[in-house]
Amino acid sequence: MKNPFIYGETVSGDNFCDRALEMEELVTDIKNSQNVIILSPRRYGKTSLIKQVLRKVEAQGILTFYVDLYPAINKGKFIEIYAGAISAGIPGGVRKVVKRIKEYLPRIIPKVLMDDQSFHLEFEFDRTGSISPNIDDLLCAVDKEADRQNKSAVVVFDEFQEIANFDDDEIERKMRSVFQNHRNVSYIFMGSKTHLMRDIFNNPNRPFYKSGKHFPLGKIDHKELSFFAKKKFSGQNIVIGNNELNRVLDSTECHPYYFQMLCNVLWELCMDSRVITKDDIRKALDILISRESSVYIAMWEELTIKQKNLMVALAKEESPEVFSKKFLETYGLGLSSSIQKALKKLLKKELIQQENGSYRVYDLFFKKWIRRTW
Ligand SMILES: Nc1ncnc2c1ncn2[C@@H]1O[C@H](COP(=O)(O)OP(=O)(O)O)[C@@H](O)[C@H]1O
Ligand SMILES: [Mg+2]
Repeated sequence: MKNPFIYGETVSGDNFCDRALEMEELVTDIKNSQNVIILSPRRYGKTSLIKQVLRKVEAQGILTFYVDLYPAINKGKFIEIYAGAISAGIPGGVRKVVKRIKEYLPRIIPKVLMDDQSFHLEFEFDRTGSISPNIDDLLCAVDKEADRQNKSAVVVFDEFQEIANFDDDEIERKMRSVFQNHRNVSYIFMGSKTHLMRDIFNNPNRPFYKSGKHFPLGKIDHKELSFFAKKKFSGQNIVIGNNELNRVLDSTECHPYYFQMLCNVLWELCMDSRVITKDDIRKALDILISRESSVYIAMWEELTIKQKNLMVALAKEESPEVFSKKFLETYGLGLSSSIQKALKKLLKKELIQQENGSYRVYDLFFKKWIRRTW
């Protein structure tokens, strides 16, 4: 029997829990051609949510384009990725798509790759000269297709903060100036690296300053998560009581990814007994922490002594005032000026996240590992 709790990939259909309000709001935004900035830490469910939303609006006749910028390490790669997303989003057979691509992107040579049932395109273009004209063509392509079909369109840029790594801000500047003329296209910018995303959208010196509606994505409502998990367990005749369920929710802080991970292990553990006990939850947590411990040790060894002390302090306290005398003295952290640097480094490594003015260890099981070990 297949484990019904899935993590580490986008979830859809029966494996997708709730998000009804978020979906409704995003569908409305897209229909209004509103630009939206979706921000959340990693693994809160941005990609899963937006893919559900895209399926929904596509069924209502809106053209959809999904651009994953995670691998966009430079402007050339950006061109390839965006061109690929445009060709994937144009409805129709291979001939029609190639014809449109040649028209919209005249400086790019598409190469058709056939799979069993489907096809996709790869692209070649001259990288020796200026690639700027290619960027100009690309940024207008979706709007042209929407015009031609007399439809609205939506373009999602996932992991948008990667554009901050390019040599210069050409793409950022051009996107801002070109996109604002596209009346029938909604652009959605999603990102996990909150400090980079905030700088792109909240810094008055950057092109995207005040350029869309902010949509911070929170965790999933705990009642919905409970209902989801109960249904999945009972579908396999495994019983989980309310107290045990609350314990699972508490120990994963309702974080969708860690919740799925813990339920996944519980499901394996209780396949025979068919009842989940407190002891099973403890065992499942032990399994997860020891399974990940080699990764944690590797991460730990990369840290300076100051960073280690700070991680221990953040793992042990809930929302501490990190610059308070008490916090600094309790954990022997020295002067507040020196932990500023350590906080910055840990944020950059994505080991901690900033939340409501405080800081916390991002990975819940890493946090538990630190608490147990140090
Ligand atoms: N709506 C949801 N229902 C069930 N599980 C979810 C949901 N959203 C996220 N998850 C869990 O979190 C994991 C990460 O989701 P993902 O969409 O990749 O997040 P993000 O794009 O924010 O990093 C998924 O593999 C799944 O285990
Ligand atoms: Mg994602």
